[in-house]
Amino acid sequence: MAFLEVRDLCKTYKMGEVEVPAVRSMTFDVNAGEFVVVVGPSGSGKTTLLNMIGGMDTVTSGSIELDGVRVSDYTPKEVTFYRRYDIGFVFQFYNLVANLTALENVELANQICKDPLDAGDALRSVGLGHRIDNFPGQLSGGEQQRVAIARALAKNPKLLLCDEPTGALDYETGKAILKLLQDTCHNTGKTVMVITHNQAFERIADRVIRVHEGHVAAVTVNDNPDSAETLEW
Ligand SMILES: Nc1ncnc2c1ncn2[C@@H]1O[C@H](COP(=O)(O)OP(=O)(O)OP(=O)(O)O)[C@@H](O)[C@H]1O
Ligand SMILES: [Mg+2]
Repeated sequence: MAFLEVRDLCKTYKMGEVEVPAVRSMTFDVNAGEFVVVVGPSGSGKTTLLNMIGGMDTVTSGSIELDGVRVSDYTPKEVTFYRRYDIGFVFQFYNLVANLTALENVELANQICKDPLDAGDALRSVGLGHRIDNFPGQLSGGEQQRVAIARALAKNPKLLLCDEPTGALDYETGKAILKLLQDTCHNTGKTVMVITHNQAFERIADRVIRVHEGHVAAVTVNDNPDSAETLEW
């Protein structure tokens, strides 16, 4: 049994009379500790997929099992705890609280967790030990994303979900963030899923899930993925 099993997953949004099929039957597995890249063009259903896996959106049909538990059957209350305890999120636009320091931003998230890591340790692990007392406005975009990653990791989640984590960053900074995510995955054994529309990221993944128009077009396993350092796009 795989760590994450997605089966015949569908999501249809109803906009009045109109039905928008965002995810039309996706099936794939992810193994524990893999660095997974979900790649596809705009509108192909990547964010919808990740939101369902992360308990931020409900499933229209099909199932999601994480670590042996069918999370797609969770009640609303169970989903709340699932989001809090089991899932770490990283978004394109960091979503930090502007009037809290880097350390306080991570501590804030830790308050709703069961078994969080030390906030200072989490920030040091992303290379920000020297900036823990800075406010987001005093940090560069790349540094703010590192705070967001530290905040997600400090929850000690089962699964780290990242939606276009480099989307707002310049080339070199984006590469450094991808390297951090890849290293974190391989050094800590944490399972990491990264959404991108950039096909260049495929060769750094342990597993590539290519999506197109709400379907899984292909799943590829790389036995020897490249380091994010070597990326060029
Ligand atoms: N809350 C929603 N209500 C209605 N339609 C939605 C909603 N969320 C997404 N959709 C539609 O579902 C489809 C898939 O959207 P989704 O955001 O998952 O794509 P994506 O692959 O993440 O695209 P992008 O790369 O632009 O972020 C799109 O047609 C989108 O308009
Ligand atoms: Mg998206």
